[in-house]
Amino acid sequence: MTNTIHIDAGSGYDVLIGRDLLAQVGERTRRALPKTARIAVFTDTTVQPLYGDAVERSLREAGFETCCFVFPAGERSKNLATVGRFLDFMSEHRLTRRDAVLVLGGGVAGDMGGFAASIYLRGIPFVQVPTTLLAAVDSSVGGKTGVDTAYGKNLTGTFWQPSLVVCDTGTFDSLGVDQVLDGTAEIIKTAAIRDADLFERLEAGALKADPEAVIARCVEIKGEVVASDEKESGLRRILNFGHTLGHAIELKKDYGISHGRAVAIGMLLVTAATRKNGWTESGIYERLLSLISSSGFAVETDVPLEDLCEAARSDKKSEGDSIHIIYLQTIGSCADRTVRFDALYDFLKSE
Ligand SMILES: NC(=O)c1ccc[n+]([C@@H]2O[C@H](COP(=O)([O-])OP(=O)(O)OC[C@H]3O[C@@H](n4cnc5c(N)ncnc54)[C@H](O)[C@@H]3O)[C@@H](O)[C@H]2O)c1
Repeated sequence: MTNTIHIDAGSGYDVLIGRDLLAQVGERTRRALPKTARIAVFTDTTVQPLYGDAVERSLREAGFETCCFVFPAGERSKNLATVGRFLDFMSEHRLTRRDAVLVLGGGVAGDMGGFAASIYLRGIPFVQVPTTLLAAVDSSVGGKTGVDTAYGKNLTGTFWQPSLVVCDTGTFDSLGVDQVLDGTAEIIKTAAIRDADLFERLEAGALKADPEAVIARCVEIKGEVVASDEKESGLRRILNFGHTLGHAIELKKDYGISHGRAVAIGMLLVTAATRKNGWTESGIYERLLSLISSSGFAVETDVPLEDLCEAARSDKKSEGDSIHIIYLQTIGSCADRTVRFDALYDFLKSE
């Protein structure tokens, strides 16, 4: 069964979620982009050998001409140099405004391919085919595109919504443990901030039993948040629950910890603090802790709190002398308050 979620951002687009959808990518793209002649597939060296041929075959069967640009897999490729090479590649293949980009891969491919699509000829359409759980529930929806620079992650980019997202959950079979946990952390976050029922279903094991339904609900929630705050000036901030401290842990660990593992600990640290400070109902921390640990995450970090507070200062979401704290009031409901940096240590310190 294919779940279809409509996202009301940009000119509006569908997100299709189901198993064995790669063979339908061509036909579905044809419906979304009826006048498009050529498609530049943008993918990485890990994903291309796994799924590249199936996608290009499906596109050609639907009448598209294709060409394929492959970049070295990993975050280190997510920079302007890779985007520059892809822009040149599209020029060499004479792509016009009638043509489109199809991104096949995880969040790195999605962010860069979407960014290139947004600036090539001042913007051409693009389709996302996410192949990581994180890209499926998070990065492929919402239109944030971009690259890292020498000064930090995601410092250059655009808002550019895709025309279609096709998520074949069969592609997740080839993911490693940390890559699955990266997506799982975002799923737990989404349920915790917005949907008590989804959180209960996760507690009952829904991610294993019915991953398509869980992913669809997460996409729906992200879509609602994005539709009401496309350019991230308010509500969209709630999606950062656990992320400021998660980023601080990643930074202090020199990126030797995966993103999902860091975010999971970030969610717990902030919830322990907001429970102590009376902002979070009792019993909520314990439920979050139990779901996070039973999902396979470590629940503590050896990074000293002083170091985390210092790293949090450099977060790009900080404002002047304060930091936004997104916290759970209860399961399914969150809020946003600021805490001054000079009070952050005491705020976070355990009782
Ligand atoms: N735009 C947004 O809203 C948004 C949101 C969250 C994260 N992001 C970005 O997403 C990126 C992280 O995404 P990611 O974790 O998907 O990283 P990624 O794209 O680098 O994928 C992780 C690794 O998995 C490999 N891979 C991808 N699909 C695979 C598959 N099906 N089987 C086996 N291996 C596979 C990739 O080649 C890569 O080596 C970061 O750059 C982050 O900034 C963006």
